Amino acid sequence: MIEENPTTGQTALDPNEIDGLIPSHIMTRAELDRLEHDNIVDALDWLDRRKPKDVLDELFLRRLHQRMFGEVWRWAGSYRQSDKNLGITFHQIPVQVSQLLDNVKYWLEQQTYPPDEIAVRFHHHLVSIHPFSNGNGRHARVMADLLLERRLDQPMFTWGRGDLASIGEVRRVYIEALKAADGLDYAKLLEFVRS
Ligand SMILES: Nc1ncnc2c1ncn2[C@@H]1O[C@H](COP(=O)(O)OP(=O)(O)OP(=O)(O)O)[C@@H](O)[C@H]1O
Ligand SMILES: [Mg+2]
Repeated sequence: MIEENPTTGQTALDPNEIDGLIPSHIMTRAELDRLEHDNIVDALDWLDRRKPKDVLDELFLRRLHQRMFGEVWRWAGSYRQSDKNLGITFHQIPVQVSQLLDNVKYWLEQQTYPPDEIAVRFHHHLVSIHPFSNGNGRHARVMADLLLERRLDQPMFTWGRGDLASIGEVRRVYIEALKAADGLDYAKLLEFVRS
């Protein structure tokens, strides 16, 4: 039933992860998209009420993923347990995530980069680690926006003002910009997030 294409920048789920699907009636990708979308809307409500001060806390990072996907996937909020076409080897995830959070705290203290670049680098590093089996893009976009809003005192990114979830021009530009960032060139991503 649910298949994903690695060339579109999405992570394919393995059978164990599909076992983690909570609603038993899902037959199509569209139904799944809809359930995830509703779950994320509730999570954003929760975030508005909660206003976490410490966005750069590992427990919060996981709890946010749990809130965004926890009605759909049993493994929401837990790091992945297998390797993917994207991301680091899964054993390294806890260490790399906490190192990234420490690095970002240091960039904030030292003002190593301009504010947008701190948030862009954070976003890109987080999706590159790819801590979860799915939902990494959506989760890491919210994390970057929270960092901007709560720690950098900047407006959230516009992320191309398009539907990033579906395969189209906006997503193509986003994935291209991430690939440039993989090669340490952040210019395209910096431009994209404010376009
Ligand atoms: N070359 C790349 N380098 C870094 N990150 C990438 C690259 N290609 C894709 N990504 C990230 O991986 C995400 C896809 O991973 P995943 O399927 O776990 O997230 P998602 O939230 O389900 O995706 P979507 O963006 O479709 O909502 C993309 O949104 C993007 O952020
Ligand atoms: Mg996905």
